[in-house]
Amino acid sequence: MLAHSEACERNKGPILAVLTGALAAERCVLEIGSGTGQHAVYFAQHLPHLEWQPSERPGELAGLAERIRLEGPPNLQPAIELDVRARPWPVGSVDAVFSANTLHIMAWEAVEDFFRGVGAVLRRPGVLCVYGPFRYGGEYTSASNADFDRYLHLRDPASGIRDFEALAALASAQGLALAADHAMPANNRTLVWRRPATK
Ligand SMILES: C[S@@+](CC[C@H](N)C(=O)[O-])C[C@H]1O[C@@H](n2cnc3c(N)ncnc32)[C@H](O)[C@@H]1O
Repeated sequence: MLAHSEACERNKGPILAVLTGALAAERCVLEIGSGTGQHAVYFAQHLPHLEWQPSERPGELAGLAERIRLEGPPNLQPAIELDVRARPWPVGSVDAVFSANTLHIMAWEAVEDFFRGVGAVLRRPGVLCVYGPFRYGGEYTSASNADFDRYLHLRDPASGIRDFEALAALASAQGLALAADHAMPANNRTLVWRRPATK
């Protein structure tokens, strides 16, 4: 049976509303940490102008690949193996990168690798969209996010909700400028960074 995420079912509609605008002019999107593949299938179905490339770490790839094979529309590419820690990433250039609920799971060094990798594969102009919970000015945006962060630390001390300002610094180092910060249901955000056409 395919793995199922209730959170994906709840958040995919609101995320699609953001991506519809943010990715209107793009053609190919790389998704990092595609998980169950529910997002990839849904976004590819609803954004048929895009070629959607899902990816996962090696140990998580089999279930994702199976969902893509069974449910994927024609513009959804077969899932590829991609750990953000790899150098270089095993992909060509893309117009956009999307990732949901990954930066608080991976260790900070991997978050740095994430932005370095995005910087290497993203075309100019290019777009990066990241969905998840973030802290601002060192503060959680809700008590439930503070509880969630405590839970994350207990499970894996290297994980944790990231500070928006620290992510913005990594994005800036890759020539990305914040274009939008969308409030999402359940105290999450979708951050949209854009890289201009020229340096
Ligand atoms: C909470 S799940 C989110 C999955 C999916 N994007 C979603 O929204 O349901 C976190 C994902 O991050 C991925 N991940 C963690 N570390 C990673 C790394 N170093 N490289 C690529 N993906 C990673 C995990 O494999 C997992 O699929």
